[in-house]
This record gives sequence, C-alpha cells and structure tokens, in this order.
Amino acid sequence: MSALPPGSTIGILGGGQLGRMLAIAASRLGFQVHIYSDTSGPAFDVAAGHTVGDYNDTGAIAAWAEKVDVVTYEFENVPLTAAAAAAAIKPVRPNARALEAAQDRLTEKRFIADLGLAVAPFAPVDDYESLETALNEIGTPAILKTRRLGYDGKGQARLTTDDDAKSALDTIAHAPAILEGYVEFECEISILLARAVDGSTACYDIPLNTHVNGILATSTIPGPLPDPMTEKAIDAASRVASALDYVGLITVEMFYAGENSDQPLIVNEFAPRVHNSGHWTLDACAVCQFENHIRAVAGWPIAATTRHSDAVMTNLIGADVNDWPTLAGEPNACLHLYGKNEARAGRKMGHITRLAPIAS
Ligand SMILES: Nc1ncnc2c1ncn2[C@@H]1O[C@H](COP(=O)(O)OP(=O)(O)O)[C@@H](O)[C@H]1O
Ligand SMILES: [Mg+2]
Repeated sequence: MSALPPGSTIGILGGGQLGRMLAIAASRLGFQVHIYSDTSGPAFDVAAGHTVGDYNDTGAIAAWAEKVDVVTYEFENVPLTAAAAAAAIKPVRPNARALEAAQDRLTEKRFIADLGLAVAPFAPVDDYESLETALNEIGTPAILKTRRLGYDGKGQARLTTDDDAKSALDTIAHAPAILEGYVEFECEISILLARAVDGSTACYDIPLNTHVNGILATSTIPGPLPDPMTEKAIDAASRVASALDYVGLITVEMFYAGENSDQPLIVNEFAPRVHNSGHWTLDACAVCQFENHIRAVAGWPIAATTRHSDAVMTNLIGADVNDWPTLAGEPNACLHLYGKNEARAGRKMGHITRLAPIAS
C-alpha cells in the first residue's frame, strides 16, 4: 500500500481518550476517522463514523474494515481474532504480532529478554507450587502480576517475604501470572518511538514518569537521562520496534537505575500504541505522538519529533477535573478534557500540560 491520500478513512479500534486524540490528529491531516468500539466513548464525539460492536464479533469487524482504508487501535487488548478478521480485509498497523507480544506479560518479557535487553528476573506462575519455585529462584521483594489484562497497576500483588505467597495469589484471583524480582530503580522513563512503513524511526525526548496508586500521575520533560543513556534507551526501543516490524508509535517503559548501576536501563513493558506519558507532545512539540502514529499507519513519513518547550504533564484523575475553572485560567498551561461525564475515582478525565521555555 502506498501513502494514503487525504480523504482516506482511518479505522480505529477503541473509543477512549487515546482514540479521541488520534482522531483529532487524523482530521488535521485531512483524513476521515471511523471508530469501532464496544461502547460509546470519548472518541465518538470527534469522529464522523462510529460503530458499536463486540470485539469478538469477527463478522462485524470485517464489515467495518470494508469501510476504512487502514486499521489501527488505541488499546493492546484487541482480541487477536478481531485483528485477524480486520487484516484479512485491510492493513492492520501496528501488526498483530505486536498485539500478541504485548498482551501476555510472559510472552512480552521473553521477547524483550531474547533481544538481549535487560529485564527484571521473572518466572511463570500458575499455582502455589510454581510460585514457591519462582520465589526460590527470584527471592523477595517481588511482584506477582497477572499475565493478561493488567493495567494501571491492577492485577498485581507485592511480596515482601515468602509468607505473602498465599495472599498474593488471592489478590490476583489465582490467574496465570509471572513473578518479577523487585527492581531498585531511581526513576521510571518511557521511550516514545515512531516507526514508518519504510522502517525509518524518530524518537521523542524521554520523559520522567511518576505514578500514584499505580496510575501515571506526571510526565516531565526533560527527563533524567544523560546523553549516553538516552542513546542506549533509544537503541533498545528501536530493537523492540524493528523485531516486531512495527508501524506506528510504540511506547517502551523502562526503569532507570542510575549511570553507575550494572544494569542502568531495565525494560519493563511496552505498549503497542500511543501512550499517556506522551501526551505532553501535543503542546511541547511541533508534531505530537498522535499525528506521528497516524502518519505511520497511513504510510506517510514520520515528522520531526522536535520539542520547543519544557513541559510537565499532569493527569486529571477522578475529581481532579472539578478544578477545571482554575486550571482553565492558568497561564502557559494547556488543558485537555476528554468529555467523560462521570468523574469516577481513578478514571482519567483529562490532563494539563504546563509549558516553560527550554532551560539552556
Ligand atoms: N519489577 C518491578 N520492580 C519494581 N517496580 C515495579 C516492577 N514492575 C512494576 N513496578 C511498578 O509498578 C508499576 C506498574 O507496573 P507495570 O508493569 O508497568 O504494569 P501496568 O501494565 O499496570 O502499567 C510500574 O510503573 C512500576 O512503578
Ligand atoms: Mg506500565
């Protein structure tokens, strides 16, 4: 497929805020957008086309794929059967391999480790016996994580001693899991890398990410990495992307253990999509992560990821959004609200990016 001309239709699986911001970016380039989601969501307000259907309804997915020119997605738990049904009709970008690798933490960790990149020690856990074996191998502190469907720190249990084994299994409802050794990191970062159909790549500056209750709270740019580490981090993300023959924006989450550590950069996980830790690119860069994702999936060249401002992105979670009248009046701040009506606890309602001139 050559580059899609403006006027073509981008199909997006998923109707949340990421789909919304992708749709806005797509429309800026003259594309139409058709969302497929199992429920009406924030993306529906800004897309000309939307279909509500089950993600497991391959017939409905195929019928929807007929109406679009390329298919992408805004969440990594798109069923592989849905991706295959769409791929039989139109190109799916990023491809299903990226989904498959990202959907299961065990597959994901093995894939990353096989690329020669550092990961936390890990072992599969299916029951109490395998957890005991894993604990003998890895020790404590450790984290037990469900293999599938975990997000924002959900589906995880921390083990301080071996005595926590039973309660940890209860916490994750005895789902298939992996045990990971606890990494003593200095901070968390994420690499936002866009890769075009021809394999060319561009990377955004690397933010420092903080979490509260397992949910991303802030992303700060510039982040903490000195230049040689930045190169290593970008190289690691490029290897992940090229091994997947990836097209689109990929996010690789890493722990940074400091320059003097034996393993300064430890890859935690990757998301085959645009990411909350890249929202600052909307306001601090010439071209944001959403547009570069759309450019890549449409077969266009990646645009410059150059940053023109320093920035701190703060998520507005739950009732935080009720401060909008104050936030709306802040100078040098860009407010983004996702159009969700109910400000439930833990729900991402919007974000604000505070800009400052680049400190020299
Ligand atoms: N092996 C680990 N060592 C130390 N902290 C970890 C480890 N794994 C996860 N965490 C912490 O838990 C958070 C959520 O875990 P993560 O693997 O990123 O799952 P999620 O899919 O929920 O984002 C991470 O951002 C990090 O703060
Ligand atoms: Mg994570």
